[in-house]
Amino acid sequence: MIPVLETERLRLRPLEPSDADVVQTLAGSKEVASTTLSIPHPYPDGAAEAWIGSTHQSAAIGEHYAFAIMRKDDGALLGCIGLGVTKPHNRAELGYWLGVQYWGQGYVTEAARRILTFGFTELSLNKIVAIAMTKNPASASVMRKIGMKHEGTFHQHIMKWGVYEDVVYYGMVKADIVETT
Ligand SMILES: CC(C)(COP(=O)(O)OP(=O)(O)OC[C@H]1O[C@@H](n2cnc3c(N)ncnc32)[C@H](O)[C@@H]1OP(=O)(O)O)[C@@H](O)C(=O)NCCC(=O)NCCS
Repeated sequence: MIPVLETERLRLRPLEPSDADVVQTLAGSKEVASTTLSIPHPYPDGAAEAWIGSTHQSAAIGEHYAFAIMRKDDGALLGCIGLGVTKPHNRAELGYWLGVQYWGQGYVTEAARRILTFGFTELSLNKIVAIAMTKNPASASVMRKIGMKHEGTFHQHIMKWGVYEDVVYYGMVKADIVETT
């Protein structure tokens, strides 16, 4: 199940059906879709409801844990963050997006740090990775700030909107945390 996690400014909580309109509006902007692989553009009506419903099933079988990023101050839903688990390897991929108006205020770095702890401690994962297009330096910056190490750059690794894009892989293993504490 998806717990509620707290940070200084944020509450990370399971998504609810009533979040669908905000998710569609924020994730529906071209800026958000252009550097993600799984967000469609234009964002179809009904897709947010369907996705939110699926997040609870995915968590129940331990495959994916998606959280709404809520600002404590005003209760605004800023974006989403989650871990997609590859069970045989006890590894997960971290993913996140934020509405454009909320970029550049350290929110995803703050949320991602808490999600790393959730993954390593509560889920007992061994490794968490994150992948970004090289044209998305803000995302790579988040990965470095949360302590991940660059593991490689893969040329023309994915196709986005008809263009082959280079991606960077960042990762962290549980032992990295032990070493730094
Ligand atoms: C990537 C994204 C999640 C970052 O969220 P955020 O809350 O703005 O990130 P933070 O504020 O925590 O950190 C961003 C860092 O990137 C830096 N940054 C921003 N634009 C940059 C650029 N063009 N080049 C280099 N660094 C940049 C910021 O300065 C900041 O670092 P700092 O705190 O050391 O100054 C957000 O831009 C987003 O949702 N983008 C669209 C969806 C997406 O790309 N998701 C990730 C897919 S891998």
